[in-house]
Amino acid sequence: MSCPVRARVESELTQEIQPVRGMNDVLPTEIGAWQTIEGAARALLAAYGYQEIRIPVLERTELFKRAIGEYTDVVEKEMYTFVDLGGDSLTLRPEATAGVMRALISNGMLRGQRHKLWCMGPMFRHEKPQKGRYRQFHQINVEAVGMPGPDVDVELVALTARLWRRLGIEGLRLEVNSLGSPEARHAYREKLVEYFRARYERLDADSRRRLEGNPLRILDSKNPDLRELIDGAPVLTDHLDPQSREHFQVLCASLDGLGIPFRVNPRLVRGLDYYSRTVFEWITDALGAQDAVCSGGRYDGLIAQLGGEATPGIGFAMGVERLVALLTQAGRVQPSPAADVYIVVSGSRATASGVALAERLRDELPSRRFELNLGGGNFKAQFRRADRSGAAIALILGDDELERGVASLKPLRREAGQSESPLPDLAAAIEAALAGPAGQP
Ligand code: HAM
Repeated sequence: MSCPVRARVESELTQEIQPVRGMNDVLPTEIGAWQTIEGAARALLAAYGYQEIRIPVLERTELFKRAIGEYTDVVEKEMYTFVDLGGDSLTLRPEATAGVMRALISNGMLRGQRHKLWCMGPMFRHEKPQKGRYRQFHQINVEAVGMPGPDVDVELVALTARLWRRLGIEGLRLEVNSLGSPEARHAYREKLVEYFRARYERLDADSRRRLEGNPLRILDSKNPDLRELIDGAPVLTDHLDPQSREHFQVLCASLDGLGIPFRVNPRLVRGLDYYSRTVFEWITDALGAQDAVCSGGRYDGLIAQLGGEATPGIGFAMGVERLVALLTQAGRVQPSPAADVYIVVSGSRATASGVALAERLRDELPSRRFELNLGGGNFKAQFRRADRSGAAIALILGDDELERGVASLKPLRREAGQSESPLPDLAAAIEAALAGPAGQP
């Protein structure tokens, strides 16, 4: 007699397990765009003198609270935080800047030194998933530490502009702003609080809460009912300290000089609290609501705030998923390269020697791609696979050929007959077949 409880437990055990909401698989059909972007960024960053650093995905929660700010959306609402078995509160990194600065401090790498660093990898934010916004997403993150600028600010923007050109991504717009020195920002903050306090009844609940903790974030509100109120608020760029003003003027003049178009957006305040002076964002109209593909700015006070020796810094991060979407929309994704040679094996002896033959050819022609038919299959099925693999030629090894010490070559992408080659001469015969009659396989 069957037991209903056991049957239910068994059916639960075999039920399909769902992926975590907002966390995506990147499939082999999509990976080309990822590799194009990562490869281009890697090469360009190396060319500008940036070195890779790898940091943990988990950090102490306190790091993000202190770096990003207690009253930010990221810290208030979006962090994946848990207590580990040792009782420590840990958080999956929502961004990389805090971790990179922590690494510089932990490894004693400051002491007046300069660092140009990049890292890439997954970040985690418990946001409402939608097109272009995920809970696990990937950033290419770049940081320049120890240089007060504005030359480095300009060069970082130029680097990103060059990356878009290399990738063939068009239509990105650059917005810049200056948040001033921490002191000037403080003075501005007072003015802002005064302005909003006088209009308290028009604020929404989020903004009321932020009024005391972080009034600048009210400027960043997405609530359309607050637009008019925000438009009337004092403007930060009118309250810059003289040094920040000059820094910003040099930045804008240098961008003009380089022919990089930009717009000064006085409402660009960014969602993380560590910024001062320069902030910038590359935005697009092609991805709906999630319009920022690359954002960053200067964080001159952050390292000291984390207990390190006061050192200026600036950086940015690109959202890889958003760049992938743009590259795909623009039809700029290269298909992954196909095999050069697909090896068809038929008969038990030939099948047994297939791996050894393929290994020998890989030794002899290391830059060629060989795909060996694995898992059996009749001749017809193997040729179908050879065709689907995109390989330029099929190499056919049957028991009969093996007996005679030869293998056959058959071009798959042009009309041409099959030819035979002695096994020891196969490498040269493959190269000749790949070159084709007029140098075309
Ligand atoms: P962020 O503006 O929070 O800055 O993120 C940078 C970029 O990551 C955004 O422009 C966007 O392209 C992408 N991004 C952010 N959230 C998501 C999401 N939920 N789904 C998909 N993509 C997303 C930072 O993270 C700073 N740490 C950047 C920085 C580095 N500033 C200085 N150094």
